Amino acid sequence: MRTAYCGQLNLSYLSQEVTLCGWVNHRRDLGGLIFIEMRDQEGLVQVFFNPNRQEIFARASELRNEFCLKVTGIVCARPENQVNNNMVTGAVEVLAIELSIINRSDPPPLDSNQNNSEEKRLKFRYLDLRRPVMVHRLKTRARISSFIRHFMETEGFINIETPMLTKATPEGARDYLVPSRIHKGKFYALPQSPQLFKQLLMISGFDRYYQITKCFRDEDLRADRQPEFTQIDIETAFMTAAQLREIMERLIRDLYREIIGIDLGIFPQITYADAICRFGSDKPDLRNPMEIVDVADLVKKVDFAMLSIPANDSHSRVSALRVPGGSKLSRKQIDEYNKYITIYGAKGLMYMKVYQHNSGIKRVKSPVEKFMEPKLIEQILIRTCAVDGDIIFFIGDHKNIVTNALGALRLKLGLDLHLTLIDRWAPLWVVDFPMFEENREGNLVAMHHPFTAPKDIDTKTLVASPRSAIADAYDMVINGYEIGGGSVRIHCSNMQKKVFDILGINEQEQQEKFSFFLNALKYGTPPHAGLAFGLDRLVMLLVGTNNIRDVIAFPKTTAATDIMAETPSIINDFMLADLSISTLNKRREIIENN
Ligand code: AMO
Ligand code: AMP
Repeated sequence: MRTAYCGQLNLSYLSQEVTLCGWVNHRRDLGGLIFIEMRDQEGLVQVFFNPNRQEIFARASELRNEFCLKVTGIVCARPENQVNNNMVTGAVEVLAIELSIINRSDPPPLDSNQNNSEEKRLKFRYLDLRRPVMVHRLKTRARISSFIRHFMETEGFINIETPMLTKATPEGARDYLVPSRIHKGKFYALPQSPQLFKQLLMISGFDRYYQITKCFRDEDLRADRQPEFTQIDIETAFMTAAQLREIMERLIRDLYREIIGIDLGIFPQITYADAICRFGSDKPDLRNPMEIVDVADLVKKVDFAMLSIPANDSHSRVSALRVPGGSKLSRKQIDEYNKYITIYGAKGLMYMKVYQHNSGIKRVKSPVEKFMEPKLIEQILIRTCAVDGDIIFFIGDHKNIVTNALGALRLKLGLDLHLTLIDRWAPLWVVDFPMFEENREGNLVAMHHPFTAPKDIDTKTLVASPRSAIADAYDMVINGYEIGGGSVRIHCSNMQKKVFDILGINEQEQQEKFSFFLNALKYGTPPHAGLAFGLDRLVMLLVGTNNIRDVIAFPKTTAATDIMAETPSIINDFMLADLSISTLNKRREIIENN
């Protein structure tokens, strides 16, 4: 129907007749003249209706926002004083000679000039997606996927699809289950990732696999987590972790150059232990210059229990965060930060303001200064590299509490005091994660997933001291977001069984859940390693938003609902009966509550 896109018109079309199809973005009546901003997938252009053409002028006066149109007209240069430099097509306008109103629109529920609530945007998502910014985000996402496919294929990776109706793959979340109609009482699980299938492909002999695929995880959602999200899933055989990381780093570096023209440089590598110690996070935002330093050894004898008790306890940590220029913080602001860290379980925040340090007077201001010898204060100032005008915050508590509280405080202060260089890019690799961590019940769980190989140890040592085992696992982090993670895999069935044992997965459970995989490991399994990127997070960073929902056409809310399609929804009794599912009590409750 169309001969040109609105958003692509420019002076090269001058005097040409074009036919445009699209929507009324905005309409203006100026003393008997009618202008509309017409919009399509490629952008906006101004269309002008001349009152001399009476018939179409009369029709144009009926136009309202979001009417769907076909306009034929002549591309004209705008008079010099009317050129709109804020519009890509601002040098031209289209003088309409034909107008057909294809479809009218009810008054749109979203206001194009105002900030609509996210709830409303999600309810009318199809209208929200008409906004040029949303079109730009989805187009960028398509360019990113396309670039990645091209890169992977050039590097010899083969695109192979894996099943959606499958068996649980443990990635640390709950599964979404699908009941089987044919096998009454049995369920498929939607994949949390294609982890086992990609390992099986390595056993089959495909040594470079990739796939851009959906994953499903029933977990607590946040701004960077969706229940269904997209991974760029990758696996290789006969490649070391360092070789794989090199290709993956090149992929991301090339992608950034292509999409936003930024050179990310070489990614630094830090260990998990270092990341936790210095930044209080396993996904540190290195655009923030502050570092946490431990001071327990210095304050063991201070007559202030908040610091000295944890300083003398091996499960605790006493750490300091020096904030450049922070001595200007008021009492009220400090109280607010004190309140903030209680979210992370910390009981309190001690501070020390530093004045006139360089003049040799060594003057600080702190509620604890009276408990500290000048020498100790001096040692603290040296350890934290403090200078005049700084504030140093201290927390002493259980290790995890201090790490989480100071890690979060570091991020908050970085933004509040404009210390974080938000227009920079800070990629890195975090390596050498622990194999296991303790869950709330004190049981060991896999830190990455149970198929991850330990680094440089045999089964005997692993079984003897699992808590100190390091995994050959790595995460790629950009600006404080974990955008990808992976590991070298276990390729011996004996080691795999030992890891299951350590995780408390008994023989029967191993057989029920993983017998196919344990069997497969017996047939000449090659050494293999892989990684998966979160495509949504990558796109989110590249288009400059901090909400993953902005880069997904039809996302779910943080309560895992689709408020447009009203999903999840109640299923009628016949369908449930067909699946031999009975939820009667629960259903009645829900229906009654509604
Ligand atoms: P992992 O669980 O670390 O590893 O996931 C890989 C990447 O996927 C992204 N991601 C998510 N994005 C949006 N919403 C979510 N709920 C979500 N969960 C994860 C993150 C993360 O870095 N099979 C392994 C990979 C491997 O070992 O090869 C895996 O899935 O960006
Ligand atoms: P309180 O005796 O609870 O009023 O605390 C006295 C000061 O010590 C307050 O400034 C608290 O914020 C601070 N404080 C309390 N607990 C800790 C802690 N675990 N680490 C560092 N400072 C603390």
